[in-house]
Amino acid sequence: MKIEKAIIGGTGFYDPHLLKSKQDLTMETKYGTVFLLTGWYKETPIAFLTRHGRDHHIPPHRINHRANIAALKELGVTRVLAATAVGSLRKELAAGSLVVIDQFIDFTKGQNHTFYDGEDGRVVHTDFTEPYCPQLRNSLASLMEKREITFISKGTYITTDGPRYETPAEIRAFALLGGDVVGMTNAPEAVLAREAGLCYANLSLVTNYAAGISPYPLTHQEVVEMMGEKVDLIRAIFLETLLTLPGERDCLCGVKEDYPLGQ
Ligand code: HPA
Repeated sequence: MKIEKAIIGGTGFYDPHLLKSKQDLTMETKYGTVFLLTGWYKETPIAFLTRHGRDHHIPPHRINHRANIAALKELGVTRVLAATAVGSLRKELAAGSLVVIDQFIDFTKGQNHTFYDGEDGRVVHTDFTEPYCPQLRNSLASLMEKREITFISKGTYITTDGPRYETPAEIRAFALLGGDVVGMTNAPEAVLAREAGLCYANLSLVTNYAAGISPYPLTHQEVVEMMGEKVDLIRAIFLETLLTLPGERDCLCGVKEDYPLGQ
């Protein structure tokens, strides 16, 4: 069975409730083994992948993003919605805010972040003028407008390697650079999705004020708790968006002469 639509869950988003006829699926890719779940939402087959593993045992800098995206590609997926928990760099962006990310700045240190690693003798530079699929972003936004769900329609995601949280000085610097939120996973995943020709959009949930803005030391607990409050809503937003998405892709995400993973 070909599955064209997928969800990637992050911290606190480990199970795809609302999917029927769920099945575990193990995929062996050139980059490693990936555990997925497949199921149906109404008439639509959906693949679900949790980037930290089902029991949150994979730290951000060890996530095998290449294997994850390669597995989705092999399944036939063309559209991916990804959820992330983030810290806020701005006072006006409080915990509980939902942000449809439109830009990223990548501060990760370059591990596991490209399919074009020169193995086949080619040097390929991919355009990232529009880092996220405009059609998917618009579909997410329209669905939330229709459901009268409050959200912020754009924002810049600063990606760090983690697993530590940032220093207040880093947070001040990131805010000066134009960042709105900070997290540990999004840029490599978005890059690989684009390199693989997948439509990809991110919805970030602000779980806390970032270090130095928050009056308290940061804890993983507060991140998990805030995600716990919103995960049902995010699941519903994702599934309804995937269901109502136009069948035809009208973006350039899948338009490229040759992909490192094939068409
Ligand atoms: N920093 C980095 N990653 C995060 C944060 C944060 O404050 N909150 C949730 N993920």
